[in-house]
Amino acid sequence: MMFIRDSLLNLAMTVISIASIFSCLASASSILGNLNISSPEIVVIGPKTMGGVVCLPEFVPLQDFDPMKPKSIDSYTLPKYDESGYIGPTKNIEQDVLDLLSNMTLQEKIGQMSVSHVLTFIGCDGELNRTVVEHAFKVLKLGFVYGCPSDIFGRWALNSPQRYANFSNTIQEIALSSGSKAPVMYGIDSLRGANFVKGATGFPAPVNQAATFNPIHAYNTGKIGAKDTRAAGQQWIYGPATDLNVNRMWSRNFENYGEDPYLNGQMTYNNIKGLQGNYKKDRSRVAATFKHFIAYSATYDGKDQEPRYVPMNSLLEYHVPSFKKAIEAGSATGMESYSSLNGQDVVSSKKILKDLLRDQLKFYGTLSTDLNENLSQFTKHQTAFNTSDATIQVYNNTSIDVQLMIDSSPFILETPQLVQSGKISLSRVDQSVARILQLKKDIGLFESPYSDPSLIDTVGSLQDVELSRNAARESIILLKNENNILPLSPNEKVLYVGTSFNSTRYLAGGRNVHSDGPTDLEGDAIFSGYGDTILLGVEKVTGKKTNWITGYSINGKRVDGYENIVREARKADKVVFCFGQDSKRGLNANLNTLRLPQDQYDIAKRVIEETTTPVILLLTQNQPFSLGELSTLADGVINAHLPGVYGGLPIAEALFGVYSPSGRQPYTYPKYDYQSMTNYYTPIWNEYSPEYAFGQGLGYNNITYSNITVSSETISASNPLTVSITATNNGKLPQMEPALMFTTQTIRRGYSPEKYRLRAFDKKLIAPGASYTFTFNLTAQEMMFYNIDLEKVLEEGPVDITINAFNKNAKVKSIYMNGN
Ligand SMILES: *[C@@H]1O[C@H](CO)[C@@H](O)[C@H](O)[C@H]1NC(C)=O
Ligand SMILES: *[C@@H]1O[C@H](CO)[C@@H](O)[C@H](O)[C@H]1NC(C)=O
Ligand SMILES: *[C@@H]1O[C@H](CO)[C@@H](O)[C@H](O)[C@H]1NC(C)=O
Ligand SMILES: *[C@@H]1O[C@H](CO)[C@@H](O)[C@H](O)[C@H]1NC(C)=O
Ligand SMILES: *[C@@H]1O[C@H](CO)[C@@H](O)[C@H](O)[C@H]1NC(C)=O
Ligand SMILES: *[C@@H]1O[C@H](CO)[C@@H](O)[C@H](O)[C@H]1NC(C)=O
Ligand SMILES: *[C@@H]1O[C@H](CO)[C@@H](O)[C@H](O)[C@H]1NC(C)=O
Ligand SMILES: *[C@@H]1O[C@H](CO)[C@@H](O)[C@H](O)[C@H]1NC(C)=O
Ligand SMILES: *[C@@H]1O[C@H](CO)[C@@H](O)[C@H](O)[C@H]1NC(C)=O
Ligand SMILES: *[C@@H]1O[C@H](CO)[C@@H](O)[C@H](O)[C@H]1NC(C)=O
Ligand SMILES: *[C@@H]1O[C@H](CO)[C@@H](O)[C@H](O)[C@H]1NC(C)=O
Ligand SMILES: *[C@@H]1O[C@H](CO)[C@@H](O)[C@H](O)[C@H]1NC(C)=O
Repeated sequence: MMFIRDSLLNLAMTVISIASIFSCLASASSILGNLNISSPEIVVIGPKTMGGVVCLPEFVPLQDFDPMKPKSIDSYTLPKYDESGYIGPTKNIEQDVLDLLSNMTLQEKIGQMSVSHVLTFIGCDGELNRTVVEHAFKVLKLGFVYGCPSDIFGRWALNSPQRYANFSNTIQEIALSSGSKAPVMYGIDSLRGANFVKGATGFPAPVNQAATFNPIHAYNTGKIGAKDTRAAGQQWIYGPATDLNVNRMWSRNFENYGEDPYLNGQMTYNNIKGLQGNYKKDRSRVAATFKHFIAYSATYDGKDQEPRYVPMNSLLEYHVPSFKKAIEAGSATGMESYSSLNGQDVVSSKKILKDLLRDQLKFYGTLSTDLNENLSQFTKHQTAFNTSDATIQVYNNTSIDVQLMIDSSPFILETPQLVQSGKISLSRVDQSVARILQLKKDIGLFESPYSDPSLIDTVGSLQDVELSRNAARESIILLKNENNILPLSPNEKVLYVGTSFNSTRYLAGGRNVHSDGPTDLEGDAIFSGYGDTILLGVEKVTGKKTNWITGYSINGKRVDGYENIVREARKADKVVFCFGQDSKRGLNANLNTLRLPQDQYDIAKRVIEETTTPVILLLTQNQPFSLGELSTLADGVINAHLPGVYGGLPIAEALFGVYSPSGRQPYTYPKYDYQSMTNYYTPIWNEYSPEYAFGQGLGYNNITYSNITVSSETISASNPLTVSITATNNGKLPQMEPALMFTTQTIRRGYSPEKYRLRAFDKKLIAPGASYTFTFNLTAQEMMFYNIDLEKVLEEGPVDITINAFNKNAKVKSIYMNGN
C-alpha cells in the first residue's frame, strides 16, 4: 500500500483503504470542482520607465517603478467569524484531500513539497516571464512560491497591492491552466504588517509589541498584516518569530518578543490568532508560521546563524514555552531553524523535529525548512556527503514537509529518484503532501484560488494606521527622568541632534521594503506619503519649526554640523540626542561590540561636560548599545526601539507629554558587552546589574501601589491562589499602567532558583485620581521546572510574589509552596 500508514508519523487517523481510493476516483471532482473559475481582472498600469527603458542599471533608484497606490479608504468593516477555541491543523486529513493525493504522480508530489522564490520568474524588467512560470508548473509541478520582487536581493521597490494581486493571480492562472492539481500557495515575510506592500500599514517591530505588555497589539498587527497580505494575493506569512531574545548581540532580536518565555508566549499566541483568526473560513486571514524551531536566537557568540549549545533542560524551560503557545494558538505551519543545536543539524534532527515537535508538542501542521537549508547541510555544516544525502537525512529523520529554496528545481528533479530507489519511502512523501494539501484546502485555495479584489481598497486605511500608532505609543519606554526633565514644553528651546530625527526608514528598520530595510538609493522617499518622522511629529505637536542638526550619520559617524553641536546646545534649554541604528539585520548586521559609535558618544559627553543644558537620549534602535557614562550623566532616557514608519508622531507625543509613556523593557539592557547574555532569570545568587532591567520603565504620573493581598498564605498543586494589588494614579494624565507579577522560589533544593520569573501581566487605563485593582491567578503548576534529568518537578519551599520587580513601586508578598 502506498498510502500513509506509519503510526510513528502521527497520521494514524489517515489510514485509508484501497476501497476508499476507488470511491475517491468516482467522486473525483469534489475538491477540484471549483478550480475552473477565472481570475478577477485587476488591471495595472506601468511599470514606469525611464526614457522608454525598464531594465535600468543598479544605481538608479526605482521607487516610481509602480505608479499605483491603494485607495486606503478611511474605514471599513469585514465579515466576522468565530475565532474562539482551537482553530488549527489537526491529525485528521480530510477524505477529499487524500483522494487528491492518491491521484498525484510522484513528480507532482515532490513539486508540492517545494517552494521557489518569485525572483526566479522575473526578468530585468520586473515583469513575469511567462515561459519560466509555465515551465515551473507544467514540468516541475511546483507547489509554492514565496517572496516579492523587492525581497532579499531584488531591486524592484515596493509594489502596490494591485500589482501584487495581478502578479499572484497571474501566477495562479498559469499554474491552474498548466495542469496543477492543487493551486499554488504564496508565502511572504509580512512580519510587521504587510511590510512589502506599498501603502500597507507598517507596525512597530515585535520587540516594541513586547514592550507594550499588551497582547492586543500583537493581535492587531497580525490581523491587519494578514488582510493586507491577502489583498496582495498571498496566503502564507513566515511569522511570528517565536525565538527568545537571549543574546543582545544578535541582530535579529527586533523580530521577536523579548527575553521572557511567558511574555513571548502571550505575544506569539495573540499574533497568531490575529494572523489566522478563523482561517479555515475567513479569506482575509493567512496561515501563520512559528519560527525558528528551535533556539535559533541562542547563538553562542551573538552572531547570526552560529552554533547553539543549550542544555536540554534549559531548552525545555525557556525556549519551548513560546513555541508551545504557538501550537496552542493553532499555527498552521512552522519553520525549523538554521544551524546546529548541541552539535546536531536541526534540519535533519529526529530529536528536535520529530520527537520534540511532533510527538511531545503535538504539532500537526505543515513544517518548512528555512531558506536553502538543503545547501547549508551539504556545503556548510558538512553533515551530508552530497545534496541527495542531505535530502535523505531530512526525510528519513524528520517531519519536514516543505523545502524553502531560492530555486527548488534541483530538489524537484533529484528527489523522485531517491524515492524510486527506496532511499526515501513513499509513505513519508505522502505524509508531507497530505499535510500540504490539507493546508491549501484550509486556507481556501480550492474554493478561491485568487485574491479578493475588495480587500485592496482597505490597504493603508486610517483605521489601521491608528492601530499602528497606538501600538507605538504603548511601546515607548521612559527609562530615566531625572528632575522631571520630561515632558518637554512647547515653549522651551529644544535642540535635536541626529539623523534618525528626520527619517522614516530608520524608525521602521529591517523587514520593511527589503529584509534589510530600504536601500540608501531608496532612502526615506520609498515611504513617501506613508508614515511620519519624529521631526514632523514634533512640528505637529508644538505647531512650531524645530531646531535640528544632523551632526552624525545613522552609524554615528560625524557629518556636517557636528562641530556646531556644543555651541548650539549652549543656546538651548534642552538637547535631545537621537541615537539610531542602520536597518540591516541577520548576517549583514553582525556586531563585535555593543559600544556606541565613538563620535556619537563623544559629542553627547561634550555637551554634558561643556554646557549646563540638560540632555535627553532618545534611542531608536535594534541592539541595545551600552550607554557608558551617558546613562548617569543624561537627565532623560527614552527607548523607542523600532516603532515603525508611523512611529514619529507617537514619539513626539511622548516627548511633550500628550500621553504618559507605559512601555517596559522586554529584555535586559546590558551595561557592558559581557552582559549581553544576561537574562533576569539568572540564578538567584548571580550578578544582575544591567543598565536597565527586564520590566523596567516609568510614566509621567506617580502611580502608587497598595500591598499585595493573597487568597491564601500557602499554595499547592490543588490550591491555586488569587493575588490582588491596587494601583492609584496620583498624577495629572491618564495612565496605561502595566502590572507585572513575578515569583521567586527563594529556596529550591533541586535546582538553583531564578531571581524572578514572570507569571502574569495585565495593563489597564487608570484616570487621574482613580485606582484599579489588578487580580492575578497563580498556580503551583506554573512554578514547576525542568531539572537536569529533564523531569518537570514541583519543589516545596518559600515563594516571594513580586509585583513590578525592578521598579521603585515594587511590592513583595511571601507565601509558602507545599510540595503536593
Ligand atoms: C485524477 O486525475 C484525473 C486525470 O489525471 C482526473 O480526471 C480526476 O478528476 C482526478 N481525480 C481526483 C480525485 O483528483
Ligand atoms: C471551465 O468553465 C468553462 C465555462 O465556465 C467551460 O467552458 C469549460 O469547459 C470548463 N473547463 C473545464 C476543464 O471544466
Ligand atoms: C494584469 O494586468 C494586465 C495589464 O493591465 C491585464 O492585462 C491583465 O489582465 C491583468 N491580469 C490579472 C490576472 O489581473
Ligand atoms: C524568459 O525566459 C526564457 C527562458 O529562460 C528566456 O529565453 C527569455 O529570454 C526570457 N524572456 C525575457 C523577456 O526575459
Ligand atoms: C539521520 O538519518 C541517518 C540515516 O538516514 C542517520 O545515519 C543519522 O544519524 C540521522 N541523523 C540524525 C541527526 O538524527
Ligand atoms: C552521495 O553520497 C552517498 C554517500 O557517499 C553516495 O552513496 C551517493 O552515490 C552520492 N550521490 C551522488 C548523487 O553523488
Ligand atoms: C531511515 O534510516 C534508518 C537507519 O538510520 C533505517 O533503518 C530506516 O529504514 C530509514 N527509513 C527510511 C524511511 O528510509
Ligand atoms: C539545494 O539548494 C541549492 C540552492 O537552490 C541547489 O543548488 C541544490 O542543488 C539543492 N539541492 C537539492 C538536493 O535540492
Ligand atoms: C527632513 O527630510 C526631508 C527629506 O526626507 C527633507 O525634505 C526635509 O527638508 C528635512 N527637514 C529638515 C527640517 O531639514
Ligand atoms: C506619589 O504620591 C504619593 C501619594 O500621594 C506620595 O506619598 C508620594 O510622595 C508621591 N511620590 C512622588 C515621587 O511624587
Ligand atoms: C504594607 O506592608 C508593609 C510591609 O509589610 C507594612 O509595613 C505596611 O504597614 C503595610 N501597609 C498596609 C496599608 O497594610
Ligand atoms: C482566574 O481563574 C478563574 C478560575 O479558573 C478564571 O475564571 C479567571 O478568569 C482567572 N482570572 C484571570 C485573571 O486569569
